[in-house]
Amino acid sequence: MVPMSAVGPHDPGATELPPLPQATLPLWDVVPARARHYFHHAPDRGAYTTRRYEFGSSLELLPLVRAFLNTCAAHRDADYRYLFTLLGSELVNNALTHSRSGHPHGRYALTCRRRGNGLHLTCADQGDASGRTTPAGETHHLVPDPHGLDPGAERGRGLAMLDALATGWGDSGIAELRQVWFFLAYDLTDSRWTQAP
Ligand SMILES: Nc1ncnc2c1ncn2[C@@H]1O[C@H](COP(=O)(O)OP(=O)(O)O)[C@@H](O)[C@H]1O
Ligand SMILES: [Mg+2]
Repeated sequence: MVPMSAVGPHDPGATELPPLPQATLPLWDVVPARARHYFHHAPDRGAYTTRRYEFGSSLELLPLVRAFLNTCAAHRDADYRYLFTLLGSELVNNALTHSRSGHPHGRYALTCRRRGNGLHLTCADQGDASGRTTPAGETHHLVPDPHGLDPGAERGRGLAMLDALATGWGDSGIAELRQVWFFLAYDLTDSRWTQAP
């Protein structure tokens, strides 16, 4: 894993990687020492402004993703951290399910920007799993399923939840260079999250 590099849509090298044995190991062992404070679940001594980490496609890494998200929001209360981690996990689920980032040796990057009034998270994936591309000069944005929050809905929950609970969200609109983001304001007073019956 190369944590700090840019995620490009194409990674010709990945298919040519020589086989290595599978291993079960503590997740701390895959985190370089310089990045361990991203996963500590504790606030930094100083306020960070931007934090970025690249994850591999293995589902076994998802606890690390949740630790990253929770730690990005470690300076806020448990309610905010829970919601931020929940919404961030939906972006990751979508990158793994609907983009090439979920393929063997795939990867995606999470970037958290800390603003005065909230956190902005971007998930950059490796482009549409089907290989679909967006013609130059056009953008086709993701659209939430209007029935995604229905109690019986079996799909379409991720973007519908983002639409309902994030302060704002959007995506790059380019299938081969997909970046999906949301902003979650610290003040959840008017959020549907706090107003739920
Ligand atoms: N990162 C992504 N790359 C490509 N398509 C995406 C991505 N995220 C979401 N989508 C598209 O948006 C649709 C709705 O996403 P979501 O609401 O999370 O529902 P679900 O994941 O259950 O299909 C997906 O079915 C997919 O077509
Ligand atoms: Mg989804």
